[in-house]
Amino acid sequence: MYRVLYRKWRPQTFADVVGQEHITSTLAHEVEIGKVSHAYLFTGSRGTGKTTCAKILAKAANCLNPVDGNPCNECAVCKGLDDGTILDVIEIDAASNNGVDNIRDLREEANYTPVHTKYRVYIIDEVHMLSIGAFNALLKTLEEPPPHVKFILATTEVHKLPATILSRCQRFDFHRITPEKIKSRIMHVAENENITIDDDAALLIARIADGALRDALSILDRCSGISTHVTSDVVSNAAELAGKDYLFELVDNINTNNPSEVLALISKLHNDSCDMERLCSELINHYRNIMIIKTVKNPQQLIVCTDIDLELYKKQAENTTLFKVLSCITTLEECATLLKNSTSKRTQMEMCAVKLCIPDISSDNTALIARIEKLESAVKDGKIISAPKIEVTKPEIKEEPKPTPEKKKENELPPPPPPPEAPADEASADVDTLFIGWGEVLQKLDVTDKPLLGILGNSSAYIRGEFMLIKCDNPIFSQFIRQGNHANAIKTAIFEVTGKKYRLGIYKGEETSAKANDPLADLVNKINNL
Ligand SMILES: Nc1ncnc2c1ncn2[C@@H]1O[C@H](COP(=O)(O)OP(=O)(O)O)[C@@H](O)[C@H]1O
Ligand SMILES: [Mg+2]
Ligand SMILES: [Zn+2]
Repeated sequence: MYRVLYRKWRPQTFADVVGQEHITSTLAHEVEIGKVSHAYLFTGSRGTGKTTCAKILAKAANCLNPVDGNPCNECAVCKGLDDGTILDVIEIDAASNNGVDNIRDLREEANYTPVHTKYRVYIIDEVHMLSIGAFNALLKTLEEPPPHVKFILATTEVHKLPATILSRCQRFDFHRITPEKIKSRIMHVAENENITIDDDAALLIARIADGALRDALSILDRCSGISTHVTSDVVSNAAELAGKDYLFELVDNINTNNPSEVLALISKLHNDSCDMERLCSELINHYRNIMIIKTVKNPQQLIVCTDIDLELYKKQAENTTLFKVLSCITTLEECATLLKNSTSKRTQMEMCAVKLCIPDISSDNTALIARIEKLESAVKDGKIISAPKIEVTKPEIKEEPKPTPEKKKENELPPPPPPPEAPADEASADVDTLFIGWGEVLQKLDVTDKPLLGILGNSSAYIRGEFMLIKCDNPIFSQFIRQGNHANAIKTAIFEVTGKKYRLGIYKGEETSAKANDPLADLVNKINNL
C-alpha cells in the first residue's frame, strides 16, 4: 500500500528531527537523566514536528534501552508502540474530543497503571480546541497526575490556552524550519525514493512550504506523481503557483475601481466551482505580495512566485498606493472571517469586492487614510485650493443645469436630463461638494477621449445632488461638450470612478457657500454619515 511521503518519513529519533535542535537536545537530555516532566506543551505552526516529537518522547521515556535519550526502536516496548500492540501511548485529537466527558473518561483511565510500559502517555493534539469545562477537568489531573502518567499537549494556537494550563506545563516553541533545512531534507527524501530533483526545484518547494516540512513533503509527493524528474516547472504546476491569471485580472479591476467587472469575474469563478474562502485567501496573499514589493528593496526574497508573475506583481504595485493595498488586505481579512460562518459565501465575497472597488464606503482606518490621501493629492494637484468664490465667470461658461432640489428627489421621478447648457437655477438650495475623484476621471479620459482631456486641462468638478458640475476655464469647453460623443465619454468615466450615474452641468462658482468648499468638513460629514 502506498504511504504518503510525510507519514513514511516521520522521524523516529530526536536526532532525525530537522531544525528543532533547541527542543530535541533538551528532551533527549531529560530522558537520559530520567527527569521527564509530567506535562509538556508543544506549540508552533503546523508541520514543524510537534506530533513527531511527542511520539518520540513517549517512546523514549518508555524504551527499555534508550540511546542517548533516543528510543532504540528495537526493544519490545518500542516495537509494540510502533505496531499498536502496546496501547499505553494514547493520542487524543482535541478537535473532535473536546467535551468535559472526554476528559473525565481520560482521568478515570489514568488511575490504572500501564500494563507494558513505565508511563501511560497522553498526547493531546490541538489542545486549544477543548471546551472550558474540559480545560477545568484537565487542570485537576495536570496538577496532581499519578506518577505513571505523562501529558504532552500540542497546539498551533497557544494564545487560546488558559494561563492555568500554561503554568502547569513545560513549554517548547517549535520554529518554522528554514528553507535551506527543508531543501536538504527534501533532497534526502527524494534520493531515497528514487526521485530526481533539481536543486532549484527543491529550494522552490522549500519556499512554498513556508517553514512546514509536512507541506514540503506533500508537494514533493504531488511532483513525483507528475514526473520522476522534478524541475521547478513541475513544482510550479504541482503547487499551482502559476496560472493565477484571474487574481491579476481581479486586482487590475479593483485598482481601477471597476466593480462591475470584478463582480462578473467572481460570478465566473463561482460558476467554475471556485471556493470563495480559498479565493479570498489567495487575494490576501496576492495583495501581500504587492505590499512587499511596495515596501521592500529586494522583494524576491519574501515572495514565492515565478519570474513572470514577479513582473506582473511589480506592474500592479505601480498602479496602486500602499494605503489602498493595506485597506484591501484589511477588508479581505474581515471577509475571510465572515466567510467561515456565512451561508451565502458568494454574496459575502461580492460585498467584499464592492468594498474593495469603492473604498470610500469602507469604515475602517485604512480606508479613511486612503480618503485623506486622496484629498491630499487633490490639494497637491491644485484641485481644491481654487475656491469658487474668486472665480471670474466668463459669458461662455455661465450656463448651468437645473438641479433638482434634494428634498424632491426621493419621492419624485427625476425630470428629464437637462442639456449641459441649461440655465442657472438661482433658487437652488443644494450644497456643492468638491468631487475628489476628478483626477481619476481625467485619467480615464486620457484613454477614451484625448481631445476632451486637452480642453479639460485645468478643471475640477463639484457634485450637487445628482449633478456633476464641471468647472473649466477653457472658453470652448461648453461648446465642445455638446458635440460628438464627448458628454457620454465624461459620463462613462464618472460612472466608472463613482459607480453612480451623474447628470452633467457646468459649474458657476458664485452660488457655492464657503462651507461647501471645505473638503475636510466634507470628509467629517461623510464619516459622520457612515
Ligand atoms: N522538524 C521536522 N523534521 C523532520 N520531519 C518533519 C519535521 N516536522 C515535520 N516533519 C514531517 O512532517 C510530518 C508531520 O509532522 P508533525 O510532527 O505531525 O507536524 P505538527 O504536529 O507540528 O503539525 C512528519 O511526519 C514529517 O514527515
Ligand atoms: Mg500535529
Ligand atoms: Zn526501545
